[in-house]
Amino acid sequence: MKIAPSILNADNLNLGRDIKKAVQAGISRFHIDIMDGHFVPNLSYGPQLVQDFKREFPFTEAEVHLMSNNLKEFIPAFSKAGADLIEFHYEASDEVGYWLDYLASNGVKAGLVLNPETDVDNLKPFLANLNQVLLMSVHPGFGGQSFISETINKISALKELFAAEKVNIPIEIDGGIDDKTAKDVKAAGADIVVAGSYIFKKGNIATQIKTLDGIINE
Ligand code: DX5
Ligand code: ZN
Repeated sequence: MKIAPSILNADNLNLGRDIKKAVQAGISRFHIDIMDGHFVPNLSYGPQLVQDFKREFPFTEAEVHLMSNNLKEFIPAFSKAGADLIEFHYEASDEVGYWLDYLASNGVKAGLVLNPETDVDNLKPFLANLNQVLLMSVHPGFGGQSFISETINKISALKELFAAEKVNIPIEIDGGIDDKTAKDVKAAGADIVVAGSYIFKKGNIATQIKTLDGIINE
């Protein structure tokens, strides 16, 4: 299992420093939360941040979690900025298939994100074109929220869907991940955990990463 730290809860005035500490602790992929103040009630970063990230950390993956329904502007912009993977919300578009094709033809890995209340069966038509599925375990918009425990059943349901459809796509879980919830999502079969406040707001970044890694890879 892999950890993708969400930089949203890092120290924004020392972002490079915090990212470097995580890289030195063995992290090879970061989760970059993009919020547009419309699809979610908060604002975060733009494409320039991704471009700067890839300049400073060219060998580290930038995974963009796009919380916007303005896919027309932002999928091309974040692709151009150098995102390695863009995951957008199923709820945000009526043209999911179009955007998955767009990403594939631009050499960007594609993920679909489901909000806590969205059923996993909605993914069925798109399975062949997905590099990743992200299940939200909080309502998107803010870091530091509590894990919604129903997510555990959704992971099992998604595993069943994959088995029935004969695919195997990495499952990522985002929101409220800590040492306890990480154990539960691992047991349910998740492949990647996003962790924001657990890594960046609880003291020593390297220690937090080491502890979480020990739990999910024991
Ligand atoms: C929420 C974001 C998450 C969030 C995770 O909208 O998608 O990635 O930053 O933060 P924690 O780990 O603090 O729940
Ligand atoms: Zn996220």
